[in-house]
Order: sequence, then C-alpha cells, then structure tokens
Amino acid sequence: MSALLELRGVSRHFGGVTAINDLDLDIEAGQLIGLIGPNGAGKTTLINLMTGVLRSTGGSIKLDGRDISRLPPHRIARAGVARTYQVVQPFPRMSVLDNVAAAALFGGGAGSFAEARRQALEHLQFCGLEASAAQLAGTLSLAGRKRLELARGLALKPKLLLLDEVNAGLNPNELDGAIALIRAIAARGITILLTEHLMRLVLQVCQRVIVLHHGKLIADASPTEVVRDPAVIAAYLGSRYANAAATPVDAAGATS
Ligand SMILES: Nc1ncnc2c1ncn2[C@@H]1O[C@H](COP(=O)(O)OP(=O)(O)O)[C@@H](O)[C@H]1O
Ligand SMILES: [Mg+2]
Repeated sequence: MSALLELRGVSRHFGGVTAINDLDLDIEAGQLIGLIGPNGAGKTTLINLMTGVLRSTGGSIKLDGRDISRLPPHRIARAGVARTYQVVQPFPRMSVLDNVAAAALFGGGAGSFAEARRQALEHLQFCGLEASAAQLAGTLSLAGRKRLELARGLALKPKLLLLDEVNAGLNPNELDGAIALIRAIAARGITILLTEHLMRLVLQVCQRVIVLHHGKLIADASPTEVVRDPAVIAAYLGSRYANAAATPVDAAGATS
C-alpha cells in the first residue's frame, strides 16, 4: 500500500536559496510526526508545498497515490490536507463560531449555513472553545486563537493535519492543554505532522521525528533515537536532550 502522502525528489528554490532540496518523504496514515530543525531549515516551506501554497520547483507530491503538486490550495484542502499557520490568521471581525462554520461550509461538506454552524459547534466543543463561540475571533487570547486554528482545521475533515508552530507562545498550563488536544485529534484517526521548537512536546507526543537542516532530511527516527543522533545534536539540539530516554524531559525547549 502506498503512503498517505508521498514526496519524491521535491525541491523549492527562492532565487539562489534552496529551501527544500531533493526531498523524499513518506507519511503513513495514522502517524503523529514531529518536524524539527533550526530556523530557516525549510519547515514552513515544506508545509507550504504540501498544501499548495507554494509550488515545488521539482519532484512529485502524492496524496493517496494521486499527484497533488500542481493543484491549487483549495483543491488540496478538499482532498484532505488541512493546515494551521505559524502566524495565526482568523477572520477577526467574524465570531469564533462563524470562523469555523466558514471552514465547514468550504471544505467540510456542510450543505447549508445552519448545518455548518452545527458542525462548527461540535468542533469548538472538541477544542474546548465553545464558551467563546459568540465572541469576535479578534478578541481571543493567543491560546484561544491557536485552538481556533485547530477547530478550523478539523472543520475541513482532513486526513492529514499540518500544524506549523501551533504551540509557540503558550504558557506551561496552556501547553498541557494543547498536548491533550493534539493527542485527542490523533486518536480520531487524523494523521498529524507538526513543526515544533518545544522538544518537551515533540518527545511526549510524536512517534516519529524528522529533522530538516538546509532543506535536507538529516534524521528520520523515533524521538529517543533522534535526540541522540550526532548530526541532529550538531545541527540543532546540542547535547541537552541526549539522555531524554532515561530522564523525564521538562526543559522549555530548544530554540535556534
Ligand atoms: N517566500 C520566500 N521568499 C524567499 N525566501 C524564502 C521564502 N520563504 C522562505 N524562504 C527562505 O527559505 C528558507 C527556509 O525558510 P522556512 O521554510 O521559513 O524555514 P523554517 O520554517 O524552518 O524556519 C529560509 O532561508 C528562508 O529565508
Ligand atoms: Mg517556520
């Protein structure tokens, strides 16, 4: 059986910069994968390529065996690939509920606005945001806006959800809530790829971690293997996580 998402020889150049360099990657259905690497490694570019926000300069990207690398973003979203943005961008002057309803109408198969709102309320409940449903999205806290991003992603009924630094800026309490929510989404059978600087989160939730450096995959293994990988230690982590398997990890996380 082919992978849910299959990248072969994918590259993206920006002028003289090679952001993604001849990348091969298989994402199997049901996995919860962490994507880490220093700033500028190409993580956001990779998500932009997977969602059609950017076109690759070469290579192929297949979803369920079908090439999606030339499809526009809305067709890729309808085919089952949803994402959140590193810089959260809700419609600030619409209610929280209607932000999610718009996504349900657009990509979640809701046939009417009433149906879209009903679905939206379910997603808000799942994401712990139902108390804020009537509020304008622009008035939410950062943690609230991040949850709204997740609810909007879920409203598209994705097979694959790509989370770009969805936990950045959260306090430790909010982070525990975010970890529980990501696990709950995965438990629904949605495949997740998340970019993340907080190694505590990556080590706690991901089964597989891939490491990008200068647009190349330098590691693809279990969290405990990745934190001991000399190439990953040299490029990104330093040695502070090397004993993560033996000791609980609650450090604030690596930054670059
Ligand atoms: N739209 C763009 N135009 C020009 N260069 C870009 C653009 N997007 C990303 N880059 C460059 O591509 C490289 C990878 O960036 P990015 O994917 O944002 O990395 P990451 O998300 O891992 O921090 C960087 O060198 C960045 O400057
Ligand atoms: Mg980024």
